[in-house]
Amino acid sequence: MIMKRLHILPTGTEIFLPVGSPLTEVDYESSHRLIPFGCRSGACGACVIEVLEGLGSLGEPDDDELDFLEDLGRTGGSHRLACQCRLQGDATIRVADTT
Ligand code: FES
Repeated sequence: MIMKRLHILPTGTEIFLPVGSPLTEVDYESSHRLIPFGCRSGACGACVIEVLEGLGSLGEPDDDELDFLEDLGRTGGSHRLACQCRLQGDATIRVADTT
């Protein structure tokens, strides 16, 4: 099984997932809530991440995701909804709103 590395800031946690895994799998790899998922269907915006490296490793956002990111003011192309991403290659992300 080919594994890919997801580096999650600001905690600096590294998670390894099989290639093609949805990022929602992160929840099962750590006892900490590394990404604050809510609806898991691209509708609530809780899981916005900034992609620092490997934007292309997370697949292509669809039009609904792009529209919603724009509504959230996350324009500029480096933000994604983590619940809509699949890990195709190594990536470094920053959770946008942490508490
Ligand atoms: S968890 Fe709601 S948009 Fe991703």
